[in-house]
Amino acid sequence: MTPSFFQRLRRLAPHFKGGRGAWAISIVASVVVAATEPATAALMKPLIDRGFKEGALPLWQVPVVVIGLFLLRGVFGFISQYSLAWAANRGVLSLRTAMFDHLMKAAPALFGSRSASSLTNTLVHEVQAGAQQMMNGMNTMVKDSLTLIGLFGYLMYLNWQLTLLVSVLLPAVAWVMRTMGGRLRKLSKASATATDELAYVVEENVLAWRIVRMHGAANIEAARFEKGSERLRSLLLKSVASSASITPLTQVLASVAMSGVIVVALWHARSSGASVGSFVSFVTAMLMLITPIKHLSDVMAPITRGLTALERGLDMIEHSPAETGGSYQVERSSGHLQLEDVNLRYRPDQPQALDAVTLDIRAGETLALVGPSGAGKSTLVHLMPRFVEPDSGRVMLDGVPLVDWDVGALRRQFALVSQDVVLFNDTVANNVALGEETNVERVREALRSANLLDFVMSLPQGLDSPIGHNGSQLSGGQRQRMAIARAIYKDAPILILDEATSALDAESEHLVQQALDRLMQGRTTLVIAHRLATIERADRIVVMDGGRVVEQGSHQQLLAQGGLYARLHGMQFRS
Ligand SMILES: Nc1ncnc2c1ncn2[C@@H]1O[C@H](COP(=O)(O)OP(=O)(O)OP(=O)(O)O)[C@@H](O)[C@H]1O
Ligand SMILES: [Mg+2]
Repeated sequence: MTPSFFQRLRRLAPHFKGGRGAWAISIVASVVVAATEPATAALMKPLIDRGFKEGALPLWQVPVVVIGLFLLRGVFGFISQYSLAWAANRGVLSLRTAMFDHLMKAAPALFGSRSASSLTNTLVHEVQAGAQQMMNGMNTMVKDSLTLIGLFGYLMYLNWQLTLLVSVLLPAVAWVMRTMGGRLRKLSKASATATDELAYVVEENVLAWRIVRMHGAANIEAARFEKGSERLRSLLLKSVASSASITPLTQVLASVAMSGVIVVALWHARSSGASVGSFVSFVTAMLMLITPIKHLSDVMAPITRGLTALERGLDMIEHSPAETGGSYQVERSSGHLQLEDVNLRYRPDQPQALDAVTLDIRAGETLALVGPSGAGKSTLVHLMPRFVEPDSGRVMLDGVPLVDWDVGALRRQFALVSQDVVLFNDTVANNVALGEETNVERVREALRSANLLDFVMSLPQGLDSPIGHNGSQLSGGQRQRMAIARAIYKDAPILILDEATSALDAESEHLVQQALDRLMQGRTTLVIAHRLATIERADRIVVMDGGRVVEQGSHQQLLAQGGLYARLHGMQFRS
């Protein structure tokens, strides 16, 4: 069952209730604004009945009343709009903060199911635009329904029989609004998805511009973009078509009722001898009904669009689970890791990325993981900080299953230097100290150990030099050494090195290797490396293939076995 409009609004309420006072002020101000409308119509009666008779209406009263009325209306109109905006923007702030907080603790699956650009779009643009549209819509809704009620009340007061005739058109308008609203809602959801897809194409092409140009893929990419834009265009046109057809439909309905009423009113005025002034007042008030009715019939489009956008934000919070952990925590674990019969498959249609892996990694041991590409090495190390979850089996640190660890405490036990280095658009020092207090002395020490201090000091601002988006102002090797410095700074009991030295030349690698050797002292270390020279010194080598552990032992033992390791080693030795 699709939720009703009010159920949908209620979902948003927790975020918007912070501005309750402002909502109230806005409504009160709207009541005043709405009351000025029938007052305008009511003015007609004395103007016409008495204004044309000498001495019956002092002329100075006309500007006083007219200007006063519009002044009142202007001031309260401003108050109503401003307080509404205040409340709405408070809601946006609350929703956006909640979304970002959720992003920080969402289960890793979220990042697999939604692209970066789609999340950015929802968080940054959609919530804002959605609230804006909702706010404008609500403003119209409140102000114009009150105006409608005011005018209606006045009409009833003047002549209730005629007024009942006018009210025939209301259910018809409501029906048109309901029917069109449903279609609009579907269309706006589809447009939002199409916008995401379009943004994703842009994102990919911005990130991968070198590859795109190198391969001359611009035409294909442009075609992809055009297809997306075209789809978005047609969806937007469809929603314009449905929202634009609401207005004429309601107006025709209105004109039918209006003309009938005017005829009846004239006929009634002739036979009963009512004053011209009261007839003009009645018709003016009735004509004034058209504007709020027109506004109200248009109002569903922005409200629906805005609500849908805000709901996408809520969905992100409510439908993607947060990471869950236990309560176990220690400041510093011993670093004893155990895997018991761990199985993992990323997607049902893929082979197992880890297949019945059982391993016991002693505290302080240096374990090297070797194997062909796609063997599951990165997957295995991502299990440890719970970046992926096993389908079955258990992973334990210090004998405590990872799921029983407090997530934050668990991750404090690891320092990770991975295949892809991520740097933030901040200074060198803050990138090294990431997440911790920046201690300049320790940063300097970490950079020195990572063999990067000389380079950093040669930069104009030293440790405070900005490094650009994702470290775009650094070379591949420098980026990798930044990541190593970060790991050194973190000083965690378990070190994970996933191809940590792959972007270094032989000499830097030698220097960094020394730093890493020092760093590994007294820590549990998991090293993944394709260059076998860097892993020969490990305490134990685990060879993986197709998600399984196929061999393990020391370098010498494995060579003597003459299995996969010996083959890999032989190939490298030759090349
Ligand atoms: N996020 C993911 N979604 C789906 N499949 C994945 C994902 N990450 C890895 N895989 C698959 O899991 C398998 C193991 O990948 P993994 O990254 O662990 O290999 P690896 O041994 O680290 O390889 P390499 O030496 O090339 O880094 C591969 O077949 C890969 O296609
Ligand atoms: Mg890998």
